[in-house]
Amino acid sequence: MLGQPEAVASVVRALRRAAAGLSSPRGPLGTLLFVGPTGTGKTELARALAEELGGPRRLVRVDCSEFGGKHETSKLLGAPPGYVGHEHGSQLARRLAGEAETVVLFDEVEKAHPHLHELLLQVLDEGQLTDGRGVRLDFRRSFVILTSNAGTRALAAAKERLGFARGAVPEDERHALVRHALGAAFAPEFLARLDEIVLFRELSARELGAVAEQALLALALRVRARQKRVCFSSAVARWASTRALERDCGARSVLHCIRREIEAPLAEALLAAEESEWIEVSIRRGRPRIAHAA
Ligand SMILES: Nc1ncnc2c1ncn2[C@@H]1O[C@H](COP(=O)(O)OP(=O)(O)OP(=O)(O)O)[C@@H](O)[C@H]1O
Ligand SMILES: [Mg+2]
Repeated sequence: MLGQPEAVASVVRALRRAAAGLSSPRGPLGTLLFVGPTGTGKTELARALAEELGGPRRLVRVDCSEFGGKHETSKLLGAPPGYVGHEHGSQLARRLAGEAETVVLFDEVEKAHPHLHELLLQVLDEGQLTDGRGVRLDFRRSFVILTSNAGTRALAAAKERLGFARGAVPEDERHALVRHALGAAFAPEFLARLDEIVLFRELSARELGAVAEQALLALALRVRARQKRVCFSSAVARWASTRALERDCGARSVLHCIRREIEAPLAEALLAAEESEWIEVSIRRGRPRIAHAA
C-alpha cells in the first residue's frame, strides 16, 4: 500500500480501539467508510487489514452493485431454503459465525438499493442483522468497511472548471465536495453512525511510478521463477505512470498498461528466448521496446 497516510492511520486507530476492547459491545469492531476515486487503494487497504487479521480468508466482500433491486437484499440475509439467495446468505452467516475476526467489505455501497442501506443501519447500530426468523448475521467480530466513489465526478468537474493542476483542489474544498456528494448518496443517520469517514486521494505521479516499479519487480520475479531473465530500464515505470495519469484511473491504469503493453509482448519474447538469456525492456520513442540482449 503506497501513500494514503490518513487512511492507513484510520485503520490503525480502528485496530487499536478493537484490541483495547473499546469497540461498542453492541456494534461491529469498527466501521469505516472509504471514499475516493477509482484505483486509489480502498479495496487494497481493506485487504491489508484482513491480512493483518490472519490472511485473505478473513475478508468477506459483498459487491453492493449486485443489490440494486429491493428484493436482491434477501440474498444477503439468506432466503428460506429452496429460494434463490439461500446459499449466498447462509454462506455469509457461516463466515461471520466463526471465532476469527473478519473484515466485511461492502464495495460500492452507493450502488445498492436504499433497502440495503437500511439493513446496514441495523448492522452499524446493533452489530447484527435479524429478520422474522431471528438473528441471521452477526457482525460483532467484524470490521465493517464500506467503499464509495461519491464525489469523484464533482471533484473532476471542479478541477476542470477551475483549471487546477492535478490534485491541487484545495483541501477544504475537496472535503466540502465529498461531504456534499455523501449527503446526496446516504441518509444523515447512516453517516452519523460510522466511526470514521476516510477520504482517499488521487495518487501522485511519484506514487503511480512506485506502483509501476512494484508491479515490474513482481513481474521480473515471476519470469525468474521460470529460469528466464528480464530487466526493465528505469524509464519503463515512468512511462507507465505517465500513461496512467492520462487515463485518470489511478493505480488501476498503471497495472492495465503494464499488462497490455508490456506483459503481452514480453510473453512472446520469453517463449522465443533461450534459457537464462536476458531480455531487455526499454522505452523508445514513447513505446516499449523488447529486445533479446546479446
Ligand atoms: N495506494 C496504493 N498503493 C499500492 N497499490 C495500489 C494503491 N492503490 C491501488 N493500488 C493497486 O491498484 C489496484 C486497484 O486498487 P483498489 O482495488 O484498491 O482500488 P479502489 O480504490 O478500490 O478502486 P475502485 O473504486 O475502482 O474500487 C490494486 O491491484 C492495488 O494493488
Ligand atoms: Mg474497490
